[in-house]
Amino acid sequence: MSTNNIWTHKGTFLLAAVGSAVGLGNLWRFPYLAGENGGGAFLLVYIVTLCIVGVPILIAEILLGRSSRRSPIMGMRFLSRTHKASRAWESIGWLSAAAALIILSFYSVIAGWALHYTWRMLTGALIDADAATVASGFESLLASPSLLTLYHTLFIAASGLIVGLGVHRGIENALRLMMPALLVILLVILTYSVMHGDMPAAADFLLTLQLSDLSFEGWLAAMGQSFFTLSLGMGALMAYGAYMPGKASLSRTALAIVIIDTAVALIAGLAIFALVFGAELDPAEGPGLMFTTLPLAFTEMPGGSLIGAVFFVLVIGAAISSAISMIEPVAAFLVERFDLSRAQSVAIMTIACWGLGLLSVFSFNVWASDSPFHAALSISAFELMELLTHILMPLGGLMVALFAGWALTHGEIMKELQTSEGWLHTWRFLVRFVSPAAVAFIFLRAIPQIEGYLIPLIGAVVIVGAFAASRLFRAEHQPKH
Ligand code: PHE
Repeated sequence: MSTNNIWTHKGTFLLAAVGSAVGLGNLWRFPYLAGENGGGAFLLVYIVTLCIVGVPILIAEILLGRSSRRSPIMGMRFLSRTHKASRAWESIGWLSAAAALIILSFYSVIAGWALHYTWRMLTGALIDADAATVASGFESLLASPSLLTLYHTLFIAASGLIVGLGVHRGIENALRLMMPALLVILLVILTYSVMHGDMPAAADFLLTLQLSDLSFEGWLAAMGQSFFTLSLGMGALMAYGAYMPGKASLSRTALAIVIIDTAVALIAGLAIFALVFGAELDPAEGPGLMFTTLPLAFTEMPGGSLIGAVFFVLVIGAAISSAISMIEPVAAFLVERFDLSRAQSVAIMTIACWGLGLLSVFSFNVWASDSPFHAALSISAFELMELLTHILMPLGGLMVALFAGWALTHGEIMKELQTSEGWLHTWRFLVRFVSPAAVAFIFLRAIPQIEGYLIPLIGAVVIVGAFAASRLFRAEHQPKH
């Protein structure tokens, strides 16, 4: 059964895709990664990666969604059948569903921290706090399983509720309300940071290129970030793409998504670093940048508590608009495949993510040093989830690129992309060769550092991938009826 949902307006897909793309990746992850990897140098490799890997795979993913008009799993089943390719390609759908489940489970826990900080800022709890107090506040949040569970539950329930209301009544309405509000808040924060922070220092840090800062690690981080921030390899854009009206130009829309997403990351990065430098704090704090350094910067500035609260509302809103795009593909699959109601399907996905999220919650406290995961794998549940993300998203993206590049016909692609022959060939060359090679390189590069237990996992993945590819190419060379 194909989907009956189509976005109400031509532009709604763009709104939804930007809602999915802009999230913790832009506001939390991009600034701290840039901070850790030398600012301008990171930005340079990040933009190059976006162009050769991010944009082509983004287009491929939307293309597969729109041409199948189904949820990712059913869509890949349909496309592999109609293109006489191996059914192994359906694993794109399963991989992306697994990635959505895992990412949302810990995404929701982190977004929950923002709920806590909104509350702390609003109540003025951090006014005049010193660095030690702010840092210990974050530590005691992490040490409390009940608080973390409360915020995680609130966040995931709100996201589930929106998706449960339906594509039009829930997702579209929520995005129409939230996205403009988020834009206004972002501009307010930017203005505030220009007035009270040190914007020249931030611009200098983020935009000046020190060639000596270029590093391989930075490039790896940039690659991971481009997948994460564009919501690639998780079926989110495939599911949203399935609702995209046929008339809207896919290539132009994809370009708009990337430009807006990057602009938001840059504005957030500039604003955050301006505040951090204004308060003479360390830009290379890592993941704690948003939850320890930034609150400290706010406490030192006029009206900082209020603006800080507004900032964390922005974080929550951006995270919700991303979270709903992780629930939608799996929920749509359950509706299509098992004929469940939307409410039932969303409840299944949300409760599964909630349960899995508890593992992350406990990894910060009760299991902080001693857990079943530590014993078996020597990392925490939270780290394991993160690691799986870095395997599943690129792997899903790689397969999406290969399928879209090799299995779809020229005519099909042209119909969707509505672009010139030159661009079509450039895109096809990128998804056929360049993006897969770049992603494969990342996997290979990871091998010397990986723990022993991952080798069988990666081995299995490579074998399945090779099998799928060989079946596809065989299928391609069979005479078509
Ligand atoms: N793109 C989102 C962000 O930057 C995260 C996300 C990943 C959302 C995958 C959906 C799918 O925060």
